[in-house]
Amino acid sequence: MDRFVIIGGKPLHGTVRISGAKNATLPIMTAALLTPGKTVLHNVPQLRDIHTMAKLLEILGVRWEMVDHQLTLHTEEVTKQEAPYQLVKTMRASVYVLGPLLARFGQAKVSLPGGCAWGPRPVDLHLKGIKALGANVILEEGYIIATASKLHGAKIVFEISSVGATGNVLMAAVLAKGTTVIENAACEPDIEALANFLVKMGAKIDGIGTSKLEIEGVDSLSPTEDTMIPDRIEAGTFLVACGMAGGDIQLESVQPRHLEMVIEKSREAGMTVEATGSILRLKSDGRPKPVSIKTAPYPGFPTDMQAQWMAWMCLAKGDSLITDTIFRDRFTHVAELLRLGASISMEANTAMVHGQEKLLGAPVMSTDLRASACLVLAGLAAQGRTVVSRVYHIDRGYERIEEKLQGLGAEIWREEDVPIQ
Ligand code: UD1
Repeated sequence: MDRFVIIGGKPLHGTVRISGAKNATLPIMTAALLTPGKTVLHNVPQLRDIHTMAKLLEILGVRWEMVDHQLTLHTEEVTKQEAPYQLVKTMRASVYVLGPLLARFGQAKVSLPGGCAWGPRPVDLHLKGIKALGANVILEEGYIIATASKLHGAKIVFEISSVGATGNVLMAAVLAKGTTVIENAACEPDIEALANFLVKMGAKIDGIGTSKLEIEGVDSLSPTEDTMIPDRIEAGTFLVACGMAGGDIQLESVQPRHLEMVIEKSREAGMTVEATGSILRLKSDGRPKPVSIKTAPYPGFPTDMQAQWMAWMCLAKGDSLITDTIFRDRFTHVAELLRLGASISMEANTAMVHGQEKLLGAPVMSTDLRASACLVLAGLAAQGRTVVSRVYHIDRGYERIEEKLQGLGAEIWREEDVPIQ
């Protein structure tokens, strides 16, 4: 298994280009299933999760090719409507095939995703939504089996704002007969991008970017071409990298609007952040002021930035509280940060971080995607040598992160196929 070796303490300088957003691209890839034809997606990040989704689509009968950052999907010969456990268990986003398959073929069989490293990840809201649209849903041997002769519009009120459920129901509703209203819909940029993509295909959607989506079902859609939005979490991760390692860097191809909360909190922490068009200019020197955060649905502080923020606050000049209200158990990185000399105690879904003057390099282990990113950031700031093992997690969601960091002057390299110690 690959691992990263990091020699901490090098400030970052230079420019880095932010890749396309993984969490927007994955549902958009499944939206291509809604109609036969050729879909072309630009600015697609080269990531393991994207490849896993392409593999899943291939099992369903989709032909695809990825050239550089352009992904072409041919959906004329979709012959299967089943997403097998072997793939779904490696990537929860596989569940996004449910809505499009049901809408186009009237049937879908999708493995239940199960939990993930930090706890249970239910799909009850996805099922509630498609049932409201007229689907018959049964759970059998670990699979969701959904059927419908014709979906119809409905009013759906989600009691929790869910990105996945909003995406799935939205994709099912675009071909349903009549009007669907989704209240308390997720407003994440990934959902906005998905809705814009569906509109390009010919869907009729009002309220894009708000928590109330109104969808007027259409009889058919046409395949289209689109460019993926920048990855706000990758951008946020580089922002914290600069905060932690110090220096002066520029992020290119960013949508600053998508990062408002993270930018505001970074300024509170003492960082200089200037946004001009799609460029973010960042400067940081010295330890941050302690800034507490609480994750919340967009435009709140993203749960996908919680671990990275915690790494930064480990070096703050004081104490901060890090609360995750979205995934209450998403704290597997705490034990690894402690190995680097951090001082953190937990109470329910809140970490109390007691800022230290320094972190000290050590061997640590990745447990999930964003936790891995947090350990890489901590390694950049720690004194001495940090080895982050099991980096396959980070390859799921960050395109060549070590090369991008090297380009900024960090001393980090990948060691391939090292046996697990
Ligand atoms: C979530 C994040 C998303 C992030 C992704 C990967 C939010 C709101 N969503 O999306 O930004 O990119 O993880 O880390 O921050 N829930 C249910 N029943 C369901 C679906 C969800 O109870 O059927 C709950 C979840 O347990 C969670 C909350 O709703 O507490 C939000 O989950 P959801 O947005 O659906 O998760 P993802 O789509 O995975």
